[in-house]
Amino acid sequence: MASITIEGVAKRFGEVRALAELDLTVADGEFLALLGPSGCGKTTLLRIIAGLESQTSGRVLIGSRDVSALPPRKRGLAMVFQNYAVFPHLTVYENVAFGLRMAKADKARIAAQVEKTAALLHIEALLKRHPAQLSGGQRQRVAVARALAVEPAVLLMDEPLSNLDALLRLEMRAELKAVLAGAGTTTIYVTHDQTEAMGLADRIAVMHAGRIEQIGTPSDIYDRPATRFVGGFVGSPPMNFLELPVRDGKVDLGGFILAPPSGAGAMLLLGLRGEDVVLAGAGEGGFAFTLKVAELLGPQILLTGTAAGGQPLRIVLSAAGPLPSLTPGSDIALRPDPARLRWMNEAGQALETRP
Ligand SMILES: Nc1ncnc2c1ncn2[C@@H]1O[C@H](COP(=O)(O)OP(=O)(O)OP(=O)(O)O)[C@@H](O)[C@H]1O
Ligand SMILES: [Mg+2]
Repeated sequence: MASITIEGVAKRFGEVRALAELDLTVADGEFLALLGPSGCGKTTLLRIIAGLESQTSGRVLIGSRDVSALPPRKRGLAMVFQNYAVFPHLTVYENVAFGLRMAKADKARIAAQVEKTAALLHIEALLKRHPAQLSGGQRQRVAVARALAVEPAVLLMDEPLSNLDALLRLEMRAELKAVLAGAGTTTIYVTHDQTEAMGLADRIAVMHAGRIEQIGTPSDIYDRPATRFVGGFVGSPPMNFLELPVRDGKVDLGGFILAPPSGAGAMLLLGLRGEDVVLAGAGEGGFAFTLKVAELLGPQILLTGTAAGGQPLRIVLSAAGPLPSLTPGSDIALRPDPARLRWMNEAGQALETRP
């Protein structure tokens, strides 16, 4: 069993509180993405799990074994670093073979594993070179190959695809997912790229300022953000939030009356995903959206404007569907999908869990 359990792990660097007391369990074979903005503590948490950094308090278990006091090499895991550290004095072949050599694998097995992993990462033609003779993206792929070659039970990756161009990144993402799922590798994957987290992970832990703000499946995180921070961090465009006063248990969204869940205060936040609106038909009630800018994004059109008393709103319409006038300044009548609204209190905490 190679589950990972984090119990009350906290980390301080002098005055800086990098991690609050975190609890987290990653199941055997699960792919967990740690998602969050720069400086939220992702790398620190990964380095603590790897044993490269010591926690201020709390413990780390791999399977049922407390590894808190063990050095990195005794924890039975492989890691790909954010700065794709590869050994500069070794060739690509020797880099990929490194972990297998350390594990005293025989020559034939090493050769077979290096060949297989190099093919997967498209670095077969680079095996004789040294890292200094590679591009950043190639070096990054060598680092991933070196970690995968040992077929670790636990794999920790810190932004492993950040140096690749968009197309290669997409391709490698799909391959990584297939390989790791096939091998049953327990993986923690750090990224600040929400599409990468959504595409790869079984579950996503969204981190914010040293805490885990929400943990759940990609659809939990996307459809049911627990906080304003999560809704505003995940999605492209991110979730819109409109501040609306509550009167007689109702709110008025620019002429469209909605019934928010009960128990709310005098002011509510309405979380609205840009794709969860449709054009209001003639004679149908809707709310007024004033268009500022329209951008064609392939199959979709992103409309930026305002609603509900000048509050910013971004919506997405299918470029193939019926379209309103896209002249800046136009007023467009929209209907929200009531089932997909996300109500939050003024502090940005979700009011109810939508099924
Ligand atoms: N060795 C250190 N000494 C002091 N502060 C540190 C140290 N390492 C990290 N920090 C601080 O701890 C916090 C978390 O850093 P961390 O590197 O874990 O962030 P991150 O989420 O990985 O960010 P990024 O996406 O930019 O890589 C930051 O405020 C950072 O400045
Ligand atoms: Mg980092």
